[in-house]
Amino acid sequence: MKNLCLQTNTVEETHALGRKIGSAVRGNMVILLDGDLGAGKTTLTQGIAQGLGVKRNVTSPTFTILKVYKGRMPLYHIDAYRLEGISQDLGFEELMEDNGLTVIEWSQFVPDLVPEENLKISIRLGNEDSRMFEMSASGAAYEQLLEELV
Ligand SMILES: Nc1ncnc2c1ncn2[C@@H]1O[C@H](COP(=O)(O)OP(=O)(O)OP(=O)(O)O)[C@@H](O)[C@H]1O
Ligand SMILES: [Mg+2]
Repeated sequence: MKNLCLQTNTVEETHALGRKIGSAVRGNMVILLDGDLGAGKTTLTQGIAQGLGVKRNVTSPTFTILKVYKGRMPLYHIDAYRLEGISQDLGFEELMEDNGLTVIEWSQFVPDLVPEENLKISIRLGNEDSRMFEMSASGAAYEQLLEELV
């Protein structure tokens, strides 16, 4: 499955979707989260972390760019918002190949970091608290991951 679109209507439903993703991911995967300010990228990441067994609460890394959490595999949570227009080698590539899960908010600002194979999730705001998660898989492992979410 290459594309899957799911809607949530509450923060808790978004956490539950994230938990499903976090339970299904395998090492070295990369998830790109795009969508406007307040779309729910960090909220989804909180669920993903729960699915990985991370005990700490995930908070927005806007002022730190990268936060690392310990779960059944490490979670590398990158928020690229402040990197718009800055092209420099951040040394993140090595981390991303270190058997963890990398989640990148605002991945469009760091195109050089985005591997060919990835799961891209675009989040759109709907009425009131509803959010649409448009997921698009590049690569067989990610297509398999989407199968596990339905
Ligand atoms: N169904 C929903 N799913 C996720 N968040 C929701 C939902 N309904 C309401 N919200 C609210 O939307 C906001 C989402 O904020 P969040 O920090 O996750 O967004 P973000 O995309 O990471 O923003 P930023 O670009 O600033 O990092 C929160 O205040 C949350 O309570
Ligand atoms: Mg955020």
